[in-house]
Amino acid sequence: MAAIQDGPAPDAIPLETRFLRLLKSALLNDIYIENEVRFLYLFSTFAGGGRFDDDVFRNIAARMPDWVGAVREARKEGRIWWRVNMADAQGKPAVMDFRNVCEFSHTMIGRKRVDNIEACLDAIRADAIPGDLAETGVWRGGAAIFMKGYLETYAMGDRKVWVADSFEGLPVPSLPQDNDHDFSAAKAPILAIGLDEVMENFRRYDLLDDGVKFLKGWFKDTLHAAPIKELALLRLDGDLYESTMDALQALYAKVVPGGFVIVDDYGDFEPCRRAIDEFRATHAIRDPIVPVDWTGVYWRKTD
Ligand SMILES: C[S@@+](CC[C@H](N)C(=O)[O-])C[C@H]1O[C@@H](n2cnc3c(N)ncnc32)[C@H](O)[C@@H]1O
Repeated sequence: MAAIQDGPAPDAIPLETRFLRLLKSALLNDIYIENEVRFLYLFSTFAGGGRFDDDVFRNIAARMPDWVGAVREARKEGRIWWRVNMADAQGKPAVMDFRNVCEFSHTMIGRKRVDNIEACLDAIRADAIPGDLAETGVWRGGAAIFMKGYLETYAMGDRKVWVADSFEGLPVPSLPQDNDHDFSAAKAPILAIGLDEVMENFRRYDLLDDGVKFLKGWFKDTLHAAPIKELALLRLDGDLYESTMDALQALYAKVVPGGFVIVDDYGDFEPCRRAIDEFRATHAIRDPIVPVDWTGVYWRKTD
């Protein structure tokens, strides 16, 4: 008797699509997401001076369905869900932030924004748009790893993936447009991921080869000099005005007609939005901005 299923039977879905789904689930840590909540349970228990219950730890999905559900929900849109209302060890109410110790996904952008990368690459493949792929601001590398996985899946390995980051976190803001947005390593250590760790992440997915090009350093120093000829996809994820503007000034002209520009932080970060709006106004870019989720947007370059 046929099993009752949601949607088409798995064997009716092309293997390429199924592989990319699995890759996404691994990059988003959807497969083992309960383990993130186990850590959250551990740290919040210890921080609050509570009693550790190993049954809760083992059966976290059944014992703490609200937390597991909330983390699952947050992962769909790359939202942060690590702040817990609790009492501290002295019994005083406190909001504790456990993001630094509980978030294990290889990308923080959430499922909708990874799906958006896939949709852009589908269009690039269907329309034979030439050029490499680039992400400026990669953190643990997950979005760029997905790009490389896509190229390998569809035998497009002659294109490079450019992986640009300081690998030391965000710069200390140097422009007034970024005032009050200091997310440098001293303030936001979770954003500072070293090159070795990112390379190791590519290696773990068996996706590290000569087609992955790492550009280490501040965007203002690396991107202009990078030997990038043309880009089919440019993904901007540097958060700040300075980082977004530096990437656009160095790379926008290399995006070919029919190529895509994706902006991760347009909704979330006013400095990023300002850089995009100013750059588009200066260069009379009229291609419509399309929302992806609460923060991500993209546009397709027409000329
Ligand atoms: C929000 S994270 C990127 C998230 C990533 N795209 C993902 O898939 O999870 C921002 C990254 O941008 C990098 N970054 C921001 N501004 C930079 C700059 N001006 N130069 C170099 N790296 C920068 C940081 O080091 C950090 O890794």
